[in-house]
Amino acid sequence: IMAQLDQLNKDFRKQNADVSSVPSAFAGLAADSEIQFCLAQRTPAGAATTGINRYNYNTASPSTSYIDGTIKPATIWDRTKYLNIWTANLGGGLLGYATFPGGTSTKDGVVVLASSVGSVATPNPSGGSFGKGRTATHEVGHWLNLRHIWGDSNCGNDQVSDTPTQQTSNGGCPNFPKVTCSNGPSGDMFMNYMDYVNDACMVMFSTGQKNRMKALFATGGSRVSLVTSNGCTPPGGTGTCGTPSGLGSSSI
Ligand code: ARG
Ligand code: ZN
Ligand code: CA
Repeated sequence: IMAQLDQLNKDFRKQNADVSSVPSAFAGLAADSEIQFCLAQRTPAGAATTGINRYNYNTASPSTSYIDGTIKPATIWDRTKYLNIWTANLGGGLLGYATFPGGTSTKDGVVVLASSVGSVATPNPSGGSFGKGRTATHEVGHWLNLRHIWGDSNCGNDQVSDTPTQQTSNGGCPNFPKVTCSNGPSGDMFMNYMDYVNDACMVMFSTGQKNRMKALFATGGSRVSLVTSNGCTPPGGTGTCGTPSGLGSSSI
């Protein structure tokens, strides 16, 4: 989990070392989203926490309907103060899924396959081509309003102008350039986190994607309350069980 957190922060701040693999035609579009993440240090009720909870639902491989209908409503923390990330042994080859802004409050957040949790530096030992933490990066992209770059249809629209229109999803690790939908000479931006390539081959968000994400945190934006969340501040101070002060001793 610490490796995953590190990868999220590197990817969203354009501090991932592999951003150097972006072809020069797209390098100027690779963006630092200026969004970063921390583990919660206080629960919604104000108690100290590691930000990591483990629940046993006696279910080896929970379905998405069980996760969404039962696990999420029972375990979610206030989405106005926290990004909720659940991880489980999902079935059917599903790597993860996410809710877009504006959805149901009891289902809001990101779900990732347990074996996808990791980082480039510390890959998940069971993760194969999807163990470097990029599933979380991709899903948090959705949670921050990003669409798949092919717009989920043939030469579709992802509502981001600087990601070239492309025919469909890419998988594996394509060679540059891959021209589709008359998007030559540079072709598909398949190295984008919002395509479907291997973890090792998705390495950037674009400036347009950054702007779309950051709009959620501007005045009136649907995730603006996270900007002032105290979730990452440990409890303490007046009225709580913080570090005691004014103690003394003598003649022990
Ligand atoms: N299929 C999932 C989705 O559409 C996740 C894809 C993640 N890809 C990856 N290389 N980790 O949300
Ligand atoms: Zn997706
Ligand atoms: Ca586009």
